[in-house]
Amino acid sequence: MRRLLISALAVPLLLAAPARADDDWAPPVTDAVVKKECGDCHMAFQPAFLPARSWRVMMGSLRDHFGDNATLPEDTVAHIRAYLETNAGDVIGRGVGRDFTRRIAANAAPQRITETHEFLREHRFSDSVWKRPDVVTKSNCVACHPAAERGYYED
Ligand code: HEC
Ligand code: HEC
Repeated sequence: MRRLLISALAVPLLLAAPARADDDWAPPVTDAVVKKECGDCHMAFQPAFLPARSWRVMMGSLRDHFGDNATLPEDTVAHIRAYLETNAGDVIGRGVGRDFTRRIAANAAPQRITETHEFLREHRFSDSVWKRPDVVTKSNCVACHPAAERGYYED
């Protein structure tokens, strides 16, 4: 009897867990090429944080990538672009992907996650926080989200 009661309770809990976690979890980058080429200078950001059109623009302008030259061979660029577009926030359409891309105007292709409406809404900190020596820049997700590379952004 006791056993039955436990399993009856466990089922709804198990069903509820992924839905809740979805809001602060972005599917991590699994592609080895993307991990290597886009995880060298900073963390390999999860494609869910921007819409496909943003990644398309970025992959077409690697010569001037935020002041750095991040050019790659053409076939590597095509491979990375396909991965980022397939896994973009507006394509997966749920969880963090939906939250971060739904307010972006259809004709806009923001290049920074850190300038999106949703990022700014979740990160209303004073300048002194962003200038902390362990933070330095807003894009340093790992400074505050230790499991960011695995896609976890819980508070
Ligand atoms: C040669 C170094 C380098 C490589 C390689 C590189 N990046 Fe960057 N990336 C930068 C720099 C520098 C910034 C600006 C960081 C800042 O201002 O905090 C940046 C910023 C970004 C941002 C915006 C972060 C924000 O503020 O929201 C995204 C998105 C991004 N890179 C994606 C990529 C992708 C995708 C690749 C692989 C194709 C890549 N990067 C490869 C140097 C690099
Ligand atoms: C200075 C520390 C700091 C940095 C850097 C930072 N975050 Fe955060 N982030 C936070 C805090 C604190 C919260 C919780 C805010 C709240 O609950 O009001 C948060 C919340 C979030 C959330 C929402 C989680 C939820 O439970 O809904 C996401 C997603 C997120 N951050 C992604 C990022 C990404 C992506 C980056 C890098 C591009 C980043 N953060 C950089 C501190 C930071």
